[in-house]
Amino acid sequence: MSQPLRLGIAGLGTVGIGTVRILQTHAALLARRAGREIRISAVSARNRGKNRDADLSAYAWEDDPIALARRGDVDVFVELIGGAEGAALDAVRAAIASGKDVVTANKAMLAHHGQALAEAAEAAGRVIRFEAAVAGGIPVVKALTEGLAGNEIRRVMGVMNGTCNYILTRMESAGLSYDAVFEEARQLGYLEADPMLDVGGIDAGHKLSLLAAIAFGTRVAFDAVQLEGIGRISIDDIRRAGDMGYRIKLLGVAQMTGRGLEQRMTPCLVPADSPLGQLQGGTNMVVIEGDAVGQIVLRGAGAGAGPTASAVLADIIDIARGSRVSTFGQPAASLAAAVPARASAPAPHYLRMALTDKPGALARVATVLGEEGISIDRMRQYGHEDSSAPVLIVTHKTTREAIDHAFARLPATGVVEGEPVAIRIETA
Ligand code: NAP
Ligand code: HSE
Repeated sequence: MSQPLRLGIAGLGTVGIGTVRILQTHAALLARRAGREIRISAVSARNRGKNRDADLSAYAWEDDPIALARRGDVDVFVELIGGAEGAALDAVRAAIASGKDVVTANKAMLAHHGQALAEAAEAAGRVIRFEAAVAGGIPVVKALTEGLAGNEIRRVMGVMNGTCNYILTRMESAGLSYDAVFEEARQLGYLEADPMLDVGGIDAGHKLSLLAAIAFGTRVAFDAVQLEGIGRISIDDIRRAGDMGYRIKLLGVAQMTGRGLEQRMTPCLVPADSPLGQLQGGTNMVVIEGDAVGQIVLRGAGAGAGPTASAVLADIIDIARGSRVSTFGQPAASLAAAVPARASAPAPHYLRMALTDKPGALARVATVLGEEGISIDRMRQYGHEDSSAPVLIVTHKTTREAIDHAFARLPATGVVEGEPVAIRIETA
């Protein structure tokens, strides 16, 4: 066998310790698959005295991840600290400057600095691998960069934040409010330290921007992702959408259109009987459409020690085998600047509003929609609750802009109570 591959692991939390465990329990299996021993030289975290429920005594310890990144006995720097800036970014830069390959699970860092890091790594003849950063244990980065490399990718979409999917599906199954399930998720430890990363769609937006870069050969453009979280989704929306045959998902969609690159991470309705509609709990799903292959559906655990460490190990083994795939599937310098599409492609939308109990109320709303070019596909009115009646409308394809114009005119009709709701319908 050739020389061992020597690792420096920075970050010994959920993913870091998960990675150490696999390296310890599967040492012989990994060596056989990689064709060489994979060995941990040194590790780093903030607090050396913390009980981590793992035997780290055989490894050197560094308090400073930058010192770890620069060690002579480290070939691959494994960054499992997290955060877009700070220790993780500084240490990854130090690792590249010291001639080390990098494996990371850090989508926030790559969404903001991926292009610069990829260019620096490639200039230094090093690789950055990040399978664990997107959809946890699902090998979606490898699928796009390798398995589907022969395809022109048409669309990538999916549910990429398990916490949001847990919240939405739990609201439906238990009939609980958003606030109640949010609190439950907090107590179960599902939420990031800053919950807006999850429920604001930011974490999933980071992931989508990385997949879009690979799929469309463009520079990572996280700032151009249209983001909307799930905080405004009510149990009413979930129930009413269900009545119309849909489920609500925080859905990411990236596609190259004639108007530019469209990247959205927003609540969407999907058919309840579709693979995305059937997705329960914290599971992730990514759907990829290629011109030659058609549609591929990948489903699995998007988070947790085992699934995420599984993805980290896949990258480490690839490097041990000598694979040198570019960070985003092609040389970083050849990635094109993304031209963001100004508006999303037209789609059917679901509208929910409460109409006052007056003759002609529905007709007035239908007139406004018609005048804004919005055609109604299906409609349902419920019995009057107090003085108003909930009305659900499914439109034919239309734009969000047309709906916003129509909504701006609804107060003048004098028949709409409260804020109307519009949610895009995405069909797989
Ligand atoms: P975590 O449990 O919070 O662990 C973070 C680790 O980093 C801890 O060991 C911490 O040290 C260490 N650390 C923090 N600041 C440091 C610093 N300045 N210098 C040195 N070490 C520092 O985080 P995690 O959940 O394992 O996540 C790690 C990465 O994986 C993140 O990028 C995350 O987004 C990504 N990821 C996580 C999951 C998941 O399911 N958890 C899934 C996919 C991707 P102490 O232990 O001493 O405090
Ligand atoms: N907070 C993320 C999620 C963790 O819920 O999916 C994995 O990236």
